Amino acid sequence: MKMMVTHSHNSFHHCCQILLAIVLFSLQILTHIEAYGSKVEVLPGFEGPLPFELETGYVGLGETDDDMQVFYYFIKSENNPQKDPLMLWLTGGPGCSSFSGLVYQIGPVKFENKEYDGSVPSLVSRPQSWTKLCSIIFVDLPLGTGFSYAKNLTAHRSDWKLVHHTHQFLRKWLIDHPEFLSNEFYIGADSYSGIPVPAILQEISNGNEIDLQPLINIQGYLLGNPLTTNREKNDQIPYAHGMGLISDELYASLQKNCKGEYTDVASRNELCLRDLKYYDKCLSGINTFNILDRYCEDDSNLKRRSLTQELKASLSSHLTVPELSCQIYGFYLATKWANDERVRKALHIREGTIRKWERCYLSDFEFDISSSFEFHANLSKKGYRSLIYSGDHDAVVPFISTQAWIRDLNYSIVDDWRPWFVNGQVGGYTRTYSNRMTFATVKGSGHTAPEYTPDQCFAMFTKWISKLPL
Ligand SMILES: *[C@@H]1O[C@H](CO)[C@@H](O)[C@H](O)[C@H]1NC(C)=O
Ligand SMILES: *[C@@H]1O[C@H](CO)[C@@H](O)[C@H](O)[C@H]1NC(C)=O
Ligand SMILES: *[C@@H]1O[C@H](CO)[C@@H](O)[C@H](O)[C@H]1NC(C)=O
Repeated sequence: MKMMVTHSHNSFHHCCQILLAIVLFSLQILTHIEAYGSKVEVLPGFEGPLPFELETGYVGLGETDDDMQVFYYFIKSENNPQKDPLMLWLTGGPGCSSFSGLVYQIGPVKFENKEYDGSVPSLVSRPQSWTKLCSIIFVDLPLGTGFSYAKNLTAHRSDWKLVHHTHQFLRKWLIDHPEFLSNEFYIGADSYSGIPVPAILQEISNGNEIDLQPLINIQGYLLGNPLTTNREKNDQIPYAHGMGLISDELYASLQKNCKGEYTDVASRNELCLRDLKYYDKCLSGINTFNILDRYCEDDSNLKRRSLTQELKASLSSHLTVPELSCQIYGFYLATKWANDERVRKALHIREGTIRKWERCYLSDFEFDISSSFEFHANLSKKGYRSLIYSGDHDAVVPFISTQAWIRDLNYSIVDDWRPWFVNGQVGGYTRTYSNRMTFATVKGSGHTAPEYTPDQCFAMFTKWISKLPL
């Protein structure tokens, strides 16, 4: 009964949303005069003119100018932008700027790993940029993220709002960039965005089915170490056991005393709590986002919190200056870079809209999608292609969790478990299912795989986006 109520509420909401969207788009077409984006030819910190085409801008989603303004970075394919696919990238959080995806993972520039000296942090080229193969829109959503702003932020922050806003953003962006309407379109994301992204695809697909204009030539999606069922937390313990971080005896005792439920533990279950305490001690010096990487004081470890709390804590904890050798030093550089007046000017940031740029803005978010599994099931029926990859040394969203929900979709295997190669070496393992879903591990990589293993991920992406087997 409860399910039915929730469901009809969602459909109703969805229907209104679409009607509203149609009205908005009609208005948009009638009154559209001004282009959203501006070219960026030089970036402070990067030497010389940019060797790729960057445009930044805002797309307004509200009724008034200051209501909801979504900021984006758009980088044209460095190969053949007329023919190459177009991808929209969302970083996780929820609420981490898409600039993270651009600068740490798959964009054409990255920070030089150098001690901050008060000048603009240096940017250098990333040879394994995914923009060598496709055009990418890096969008700052949900509202409040990065350089996006709104008059009343608290009114615009939830999973479902993020879904609707991304959908509206995209159709509006395409109206303004009609030259990309015929390109194949994909969405890429990682980490927390494993929750909203399948719903975004479903909403785009439903919009196309009722002829919402402009049509979006959506082909599929790719997700890296995506949060999906919110059961991932329970798979962290078997993962830690498999990786040799806890003893066989402790694992056996945890299984016996906690019965597979490690997050929602009754306070009277003292034996389970005792085991969990021991477990926490074993993992306290491990960087759970990449168990092979250095542990830095600011990194989160596996505490008895929900996964979203855990992600949140790790994203907001960088208040002190990290050591240069820590992966999170890059977060510190980004904050210095994005808060420099010269950078803001170069990016055409509207003055007075954002006081301090934070890599992740995490306040006031309503978690109203608890699992994206049903959306994956629906998208599978519609025949979209997908690539789900797992850095296999991530203990936060471990690969065993991801494999489990993919198996639960019940599709038959069309290309069974085998290694995939890069430069003659095993890059990871892969398996493809009849719903056109390819699963791939990235050997030796962490939570944000392209950040740790750029060559492997570039090779994997090149194959997949070209529709070749890995
Ligand atoms: C902002 O939005 C929230 C949630 O919708 C609402 O409760 C609050 O009154 C709004 N604040 C203002 C200043 O309009
Ligand atoms: C999946 O698709 C069906 C049929 O269109 C729909 O009724 C259902 O609500 C969808 N599931 C979700 C989680 O949206
Ligand atoms: C997969 O198969 C199991 C066992 O037959 C069934 O309970 C489950 O509902 C199926 N899942 C999906 C997504 O169809």
